[in-house]
Amino acid sequence: MSIKRVGILTSGGDCQGLNAAIRGVCKSLYGIYGEENIEIYGIVDGYRGLINCEYRFLKREEFSGILNLGGTILGTSREPFKRIRDIEKNNIDKLSFMKETYKKLKLDCLVILGGNGTHKTANLLSSEGLNVVTLPKTIDNDLFGTDVTFGFHSAVGIASQVIDCIHTTATSHGRIFIVEIMGNKVGWLTLYSGIASGADIILIPEIPYNLNSIIRSLENRSKQGKNFSIIAMAEGSIPVEYKNLSKSERKDKLKKNNCSTISYKLANDLEKAVGQEIRVTVPGHFQRGGDPCPYDRILATRFGSFAARLISESRYGNMVSLQNDKVVAIPLEDVAGKLKTVPEDSQIILSARRIGTTFGD
Ligand code: F6P
Repeated sequence: MSIKRVGILTSGGDCQGLNAAIRGVCKSLYGIYGEENIEIYGIVDGYRGLINCEYRFLKREEFSGILNLGGTILGTSREPFKRIRDIEKNNIDKLSFMKETYKKLKLDCLVILGGNGTHKTANLLSSEGLNVVTLPKTIDNDLFGTDVTFGFHSAVGIASQVIDCIHTTATSHGRIFIVEIMGNKVGWLTLYSGIASGADIILIPEIPYNLNSIIRSLENRSKQGKNFSIIAMAEGSIPVEYKNLSKSERKDKLKKNNCSTISYKLANDLEKAVGQEIRVTVPGHFQRGGDPCPYDRILATRFGSFAARLISESRYGNMVSLQNDKVVAIPLEDVAGKLKTVPEDSQIILSARRIGTTFGD
């Protein structure tokens, strides 16, 4: 049997479960091929390492003790897809350089762990003839073609804990709190953590919010004798009056109003309207850090193990995904460039509405 050479990289924002997935892929490859028949190369810092030919041979023992370790042992970086074909100074042709590294390492296959942007580049590499298998990771859960990405449930756990903690202090002080949750384009994380921790108002990019609707909801709570309220707000939430603006136009507007993020705009607007103290909490990258939760450890292991199986069957050009609790393969071209948003009429939104959660519409 000839030796199989596999490259592996993690790209884009990190999340919990990356190391568990790396471990799942590599331990399964050893199991399938036998340790003496496989060589695994870790590409350092994502596509950047592939461009700059930075890699290291990974020893079997490096995959032990990392199941519950946060971050990524390989390092990661953001290499935006829209600039991947640009020729950089010093004549760095990123696409050709990536293909060159693959050839130089004599790889049989490249395993790529990443989110949305990463998958566009992975699809490009696949269409350029590289053997690629990918795994879906991101705390945003916005990857098309999979019911869930690893990292998501760990982040839900952290964000829920933040909101729980805010709940107690908000109650003591009778304050309105806005907790800003990550998610620029989609609201999965805000929706799940908001429901898990009983947020009164949940604002997500998919449902532009109307200030008056939020005010009405706060007033109703006051009438019921509740002098505190929790608003879980996605960082990409959109006020109705900004609905037709581009992302950069919205950013400019916030800047002009001296607001670093959308939560501060809402806090200002609400303070004027309700005359009550408003506080903003932004947990930020906290949500991406620390250990993966048990669900993510299991999901990442299942994904990793399935990726190894795809490699052994030469089923390249696929992303591993979860559909109805089954791990399956889905063609990269069906995934790349598509976003999985929260459907407004989804059962989870309807359930939240039924228990009285307001979505600001
Ligand atoms: O990886 C997803 C994410 O955490 C988003 O939720 C967030 O908007 C973005 O990354 C933050 O990016 P960065 O880590 O580059 O600041």
